[in-house]
This record gives sequence, structure tokens and C-alpha cells, in this order.
Amino acid sequence: MPSSGMFFALYIAIILIGAAIYIFSSIGGIQRLIDPIRKTYSGAYGPTARLMIFIFVPAVFGCTVFSWMKPIKITPDAMRIQHPTSNFPKKFETMKNPIANPTGPEIEEFIEQARNNNVRFLPQIHLEEGRPVNIEQIPKPSTQAFLKQVREGGYVDKVLAKKALLEKRLFEGMILYQINCRPCHGSELAGAGPMAYGFKLRPIDFLKSETIETVTEGYIFWRVRNGGIGLPTESTPWDSAMPAWKNDLTEEEIWTIILAIYDMSGKAPLTPDKSK
Ligand code: HEC
Repeated sequence: MPSSGMFFALYIAIILIGAAIYIFSSIGGIQRLIDPIRKTYSGAYGPTARLMIFIFVPAVFGCTVFSWMKPIKITPDAMRIQHPTSNFPKKFETMKNPIANPTGPEIEEFIEQARNNNVRFLPQIHLEEGRPVNIEQIPKPSTQAFLKQVREGGYVDKVLAKKALLEKRLFEGMILYQINCRPCHGSELAGAGPMAYGFKLRPIDFLKSETIETVTEGYIFWRVRNGGIGLPTESTPWDSAMPAWKNDLTEEEIWTIILAIYDMSGKAPLTPDKSK
């Protein structure tokens, strides 16, 4: 479909061609066209006419074109809803972070991996090319105490192992956050990442009190999966740059990041029963 600009150019071209045909079709046509122009600038119609035509008319024309072309900022007339619920599938509301509470078999497997010096990390987690992360590098008290027990080869406390496994997951979440979310939400979680200033609607400051602690973690899971494009109309003025992560991060990775965000910001999610 041709744009209105194209039609406009076409009309102008037809008018110019028509005018040219009219002028050049009669003898003396060009003379009749040029005479008044020459008389105007030589002052034959008086100084006022000359002033009007050469200063006033171009000034009015220039100002009009300028005001057409000037970029204008329109402020949306509606308030943006940060936590929309109109298209929020309720099944997410009661979801609990499945990795926040390691199960018995998970703890057993973790102890086994530690004994074999082969604790596995999520695929995105590696420090340098060709150098995998080692659990030894997590400088947390429970992890270090757990590793000491493993090295001594004797009894391994399950409660301690569970704490160490959680510390490992938080470590993974922190790294995943720094890789994927930091550019916008910032390394300090305050919504001041290097890309943040490029967006009219600024990335959320997770340290602020009215953000992640006012919703359930299931809600955050849904928001992270669907991003800005998953938001309903009441959240659209100032379109959100928040990416939809469901195709780039696995559910496990998203939950791991969510666990770390709540931990690092020192906040707790709303519990589903309290949210009613
Ligand atoms: C390209 C920039 C960008 C990146 C990268 C980004 N975000 Fe966002 N995020 C935003 C913006 C902008 C908002 C605010 C608008 C909105 O709510 O959609 C936002 C909002 C959010 C919210 C909503 C908070 C609330 O209280 O409603 C969550 C949760 C969130 N981001 C988590 C993440 C996570 C987790 C990652 C990394 C996996 C991430 N974001 C990566 C730009 C980004």
C-alpha cells in the first residue's frame, strides 16, 4: 500500500507539470511569469510588498514547516499499571519456587557429586573459557564446612549439605542474573544497569519496597517468562523493554535467578494465601 507521502509527491508533480504546460504553451507565457517576479524584487510594487514577499511569507512558511516537523513528546493520559492482573493466569499465583527447598534425593545426589569432585552447575555457569566452576570457589560458610566433611570422608550432615546446596543455587542465580539481567537491572539490583538509561520506562529497582515483595514469586516467574510483550493494555503506556525470557532461559534457570534476586535484595515474596 503506497504511503500518503507518495500520493502527496504525485499530486505536486501533476500540478507542476500542468503549470509548466500552461506557461510554455503560449507565446509570451514565460515573459508573463517572470515579469511580476522581476518587478517585485526591483521594488516596482513598493518596499512594503517586497518586504512582505521576501521576509514575512518565507518566515511564516518556515515556522509552519518547523512546527510540523518538530518532534513532540506526548505524555500518556493513563497511569501505567506495574502489576497487571487482567491477563495473569491464576495458576501461577500459588506456584512455589521449586528449587528453594532441595528434596532428599537432590541432597543425596549433591553429596555424591561432591564426593566425586564433580558438582554440576547449570550450563551458562563457567568462569573462564575451558575452566569450569568448582564448588570450592563458593566462599560460603556452609559450603566450606560441607566440603570439609566430604574431604574427611566420614559422616556428612544432611542439614549442612542442604544448606550448601542452597548456597550453590544462590551462587548460580547470582551469576545468571549478572549475565542476563544486569545490563538493565544493574549489578546492585537498583535498576541502574548500563542499558537502563536508554529506556523511557526504566528497569525495575528490585531494592525498592513496592516491587518484588508486593507480589508472589509465581507472579514474578510469569512476568520474567513473558516480559514486556506479555503485558496487557493497562500496562502499555511507555512500552516496556523487559525481554520475554521463556525461549532463552529454562524454567530452572528462571527460578534460580528469582531465588537469587529475593536473596540479594533481602526481600521476601508475598505468600499466596496472604495475597488474597
Ligand atoms: C533490556 C532490558 C532488560 C533486561 C535485560 C531485563 N529486564 Fe527486567 N525489566 C526491564 C524493564 C524496562 C522493566 C520495567 C517494565 C516492566 O515492568 O515490564 C522490567 C521489569 C522487570 C520485572 C517486573 C518487576 C515488577 O515488580 O513487576 C521483573 C521481575 C524483571 N524485570 C526481571 C528481570 C530478570 C529476572 C531479568 C534477567 C533474566 C531481566 N528482568 C532482564 C528491562 C529489562
